[in-house]
Amino acid sequence: MAGTGIKRAAILTGGGDSSGINDFIRAAVILMEKQGISVRGVKNSYRGLINGELIDLNSRIVDGIQNTGGTIIGTSRTNCYKIEGAVEKIIKTIEAEKLDVLICVGGNDTLGIANRLYEEEKIKIIGVPQTIDNDLMETDYSIGFHTAVENIVKCTNMFMSSAMSHEREMLVEVMGRDSGFLALNSAIVLGADYLMIPEFAIDIEKISDYIVKKRNAGKKYGLFIVAEGVQIQGAKQIQDDIDTFGHKKLGGITYHIAELVNEKTNLKPNVVVLGYTQRGGRPCPYDAYLSSLFAKGVAENIADGNFGKMVAVVNQKPVNVRIADAVREIRLVSKEDYEFALSLGNIYA
Ligand code: F6P
Repeated sequence: MAGTGIKRAAILTGGGDSSGINDFIRAAVILMEKQGISVRGVKNSYRGLINGELIDLNSRIVDGIQNTGGTIIGTSRTNCYKIEGAVEKIIKTIEAEKLDVLICVGGNDTLGIANRLYEEEKIKIIGVPQTIDNDLMETDYSIGFHTAVENIVKCTNMFMSSAMSHEREMLVEVMGRDSGFLALNSAIVLGADYLMIPEFAIDIEKISDYIVKKRNAGKKYGLFIVAEGVQIQGAKQIQDDIDTFGHKKLGGITYHIAELVNEKTNLKPNVVVLGYTQRGGRPCPYDAYLSSLFAKGVAENIADGNFGKMVAVVNQKPVNVRIADAVREIRLVSKEDYEFALSLGNIYA
């Protein structure tokens, strides 16, 4: 690129995959190529950067990857700041590959590392928000979130007819780690009876009473959306597995909630843990569109020599924010939004 001297770029995708990443890769490669930049793809996030595993990307290679799930260059939860000598190896790879800019696509973990590499190692970096958890600050949406909500809604609709026919209470667990956005949006769309999210600890007594009241009032089936990171009032967290990045592995708390509710109601609530079905499949049109918009932002930032920024969308407009601001803390659901979702469902309380 004439103005800024950027000739070689690499794209890296990290953390949990989602739908829309490939659309971003395709659009970014096409737009960078038009600026005369050659593009490499880092295999499996920071692991590939440590080990020097990169592949060529060009507009012919990425032709046809749009509208597919996952990431064609792979991902991992490798934390280079937890591996001795890894950051030095990353710097060596960047020098050996003659990379002028690194485009990091991911959530808090991936972009947290990206920010350190930018601030401490002075590597030119542009961030792209991608996480079904939608928990990055400074952007209304991240790639993958809307598709995950759509997947939750579609899957849940598939079994709610059965729940109605059998007069069952369904406890549906969704992902989201420590933020309740996936659960909140899905609960609103599905008209769920109740919403349980990490931001507000749940009271088993209250939920059980609600179920009984609801059934007595004539509604003999129910839908309860449970975020995997929810806390039960007065109980200790039960999950203690750790992932490779260093986070607690979540998933399965809903079985415990169902047991506790059953002790109070004897209604044997059913549990469905949606798991990875949420993260996969064809991206919804909004995610595919957002990805292309973010690719445009990345290409413009390269042309302007604007680094250390994350492309974002705020009030439906593309903007740039500091990566440091996007990862300063985890974005959480507000009390107001939680109460709004509850007010739409909790009608028998
Ligand atoms: O951060 C995205 C996410 O899907 C979380 O919602 C979930 O807790 C986690 O990743 C699952 O991680 P893994 O793919 O390592 O099981």
